[in-house]
This record gives sequence, C-alpha cells and structure tokens, in this order.
Amino acid sequence: MNNKQQILKKRPVGLPDEDTWELQSNPIPELNKGEVLIKQHYISLDPAMRGWMNDSKSYIEPVQIGDVMRAGAVGEVIKSNEHPKFKVGDYVTGWSGVQQYAVTDGTNWHQVDPSLAPLPMYIGTLGMPGMTAYFGILEVGKIKEGDVVLVSGAAGAVGSIVGQIAKIKGCRVIGIAGGEKKCKYIVDELGFDGAIDYKAENIHTAIKRECSKGIDVYFDNVGGEILDAALGRLRMHARVVICGAISQYNNKTAIKGPSNYLSLLVNRATMQGMVVMDYAKDYRKAAMEMGGWIKQGKLKSKEDIYEGIENFRETFLRLFSGDKMGKLVLKVIEDA
Ligand SMILES: NC(=O)c1ccc[n+]([C@@H]2O[C@H](COP(=O)([O-])OP(=O)(O)OC[C@H]3O[C@@H](n4cnc5c(N)ncnc54)[C@H](OP(=O)(O)O)[C@@H]3O)[C@@H](O)[C@H]2O)c1
Repeated sequence: MNNKQQILKKRPVGLPDEDTWELQSNPIPELNKGEVLIKQHYISLDPAMRGWMNDSKSYIEPVQIGDVMRAGAVGEVIKSNEHPKFKVGDYVTGWSGVQQYAVTDGTNWHQVDPSLAPLPMYIGTLGMPGMTAYFGILEVGKIKEGDVVLVSGAAGAVGSIVGQIAKIKGCRVIGIAGGEKKCKYIVDELGFDGAIDYKAENIHTAIKRECSKGIDVYFDNVGGEILDAALGRLRMHARVVICGAISQYNNKTAIKGPSNYLSLLVNRATMQGMVVMDYAKDYRKAAMEMGGWIKQGKLKSKEDIYEGIENFRETFLRLFSGDKMGKLVLKVIEDA
C-alpha cells in the first residue's frame, strides 16, 4: 500500500506557487510496537499552515523542507501493533500531515464519535478552529451581555463561531466578510445583527455605521487596515483579541502594524494575542458545551469540502482568495 503525501519543497515568498509542494507516493512503513496506522479521511486546511512554512520564530517549529506538510486530520485506525489506547475501527483526530495515511504512537491524537457529529466537524467547529473561537471570545474577549462585538473573517471557520457564541451570550454582533453572499449568510443564517462587506464598502465608514456607539470587543482574524479601523472605534475598557492576521500572511514585505494603537491608551483598552493550544486541557469541556448548542440549534457549523490530495494547493489557496464558506476541508481518500 502506498501513501500519497504533499512534501514541502521550498519556502514560498508570497502565495505558494506550483513548486512549493511535491506530491509523492511512498510506501507505508511497518508499525513498531505501540503504533497505529490511520487512514486519514479529511485534512484541515488552516491559514496557520502558511506561517508554518516560514523559517522564523513562532509558537511552533516550522515545517522542514522535505517533510510532509503539517496539517490537522481526522480518520480511522486500520491497523494497530498493540496500541494501548486505540483499536482498529476507532475514529481519531490529531496532528499529522497532508497525506492519506499516518503512522503514529497516538501522541496528540484523540478519539471521536462519528455517530454524534460528522467527521469533518471534528476538525472544524468541534476541533481546533471551534476551540479558538470559544476560548478567544470567552476567555480573552471576556464578553458580557449587551457588549457590541465586531468580528472579522466572519464567514470563516473561527469567525462564524465567534459571532454565534457572542449572540448566545446576549451581545450585539457585527461581522466583516468579503462579498454579498457571505454577508447575507452571517445575518440571515447565523443570526448576526449586521454585516460589513469589506470588499465593497469603505471599512471606516461602515464600522461607524454598524457600531455607532463604538466597539466593546473586536475579534481580529485579519489584521491590516481592518484592525486599524476597528481600533479607531473602541469604547472605554474595550478588549481586542488578536487571533490572526490573514491579510498579512503572504506579504513580501514586513507586516504592517496598526497606527491607531493610541486608542488603547485613550480608552484604557487591552489588546491580547491568543494561541489556542494554551487551552488544550479544557478542549473537552468546550466541545461538550458547543455540542450542546449545536443539538439545541443555537450554533450552526458549515464545512466546505473539496476532494483529492492532488488538489491540495489550489484548495489551500481558497483561504486567501476567500473562495469558500465556513471551514475549509480536503477529503484525501476516495472511500471516506
Ligand atoms: N491564534 C490561534 O490560535 C488561531 C487558531 C486558528 C486560527 N487562527 C487565525 O484565525 C484566522 C481565521 O482562521 P480560519 O481558520 O477561521 O480561516 P477562515 O476564516 O475560514 O478562512 C480565511 C478567510 O479569511 C478571509 N481573508 C483572506 N484574505 C483576507 C484579507 N486580505 N483581508 C480580509 N480577509 C481576508 C477570507 O474570507 P473573506 O471572503 O471574508 O475575505 C477567507 O475565507 C486566521 O488569521 C488564522 O490564522 C488563529
């Protein structure tokens, strides 16, 4: 049995081009004692993967040239060599790579139940992006009933959940997204109070219109000019959650920082970065609560699924073109 894998061939400058990864078909090694073989059904495509390709200091080691591209995955255990925790037939999710099969000792993998939620949801709303939204808006954003919450990347994996949690907690929620379809989706289907199409409107005027009394919590997924505009409308004691800066990830020059930062001083506001892994010990509790909200119809989860490991690069680029809705997922095995 061979394993198709996407191997990092070079570090991109700007958007990854055709030579960034190479699709290889390699034999699957024999299992050592205590290892399992996982048939990966779905791969999680995340903006953070772009950062992991840079050879610079971050919260995690960069992917090395010649290695399988790192990614989250969900799949099925199909072989075990006396693994202490997992048996054949178990469904599991964890950190692996853009490949069809993974051999692992199970570190950083945990079992999931496909009868409770579809497998792709375990790498979306009930996985890393959902956890980011949950801890980012509750622990860092510290939302309270009545707060005005503004979130960018609002139709995406993290932003769509951030906005819905804020609604559950009684906030007024405005989302920023690219295009009419996404703006309509977050208001009509997800229940946001308002939307800003940053591709069609002047971001400063639109934030002023939608948040006329200012912003209590800004959840930032994009950075750049949108962050700057949001800083300009903060209310007293506002919280700014720095979750990501996708508008800057493919920059060929240095990242542009906010020029409106003195608004933090004037408004006694805080701006705090967060990394989801810091909350790992509480993931289970968060997933239980979010699962409850999904069951009660209070939280909607959307996965946008594409097929074929050979289509990895063009699917990955949808994160940056915005040509997808909700959580971006790649199915890498035909019979998933
Ligand atoms: N700190 C953490 O622990 C952590 C964990 C997970 C994710 N993140 C970060 O959270 C952010 C969202 O991640 P996600 O998984 O939910 O991705 P996502 O929102 O599902 O996908 C990315 C979206 O970003 C938008 N976008 C792309 N280029 C943009 C630009 N130049 N300006 C404004 N918007 C742009 C696109 O939507 P539009 O069509 O609306 O433009 C695109 O669909 C990312 O920055 C990611 O790195 C951080």
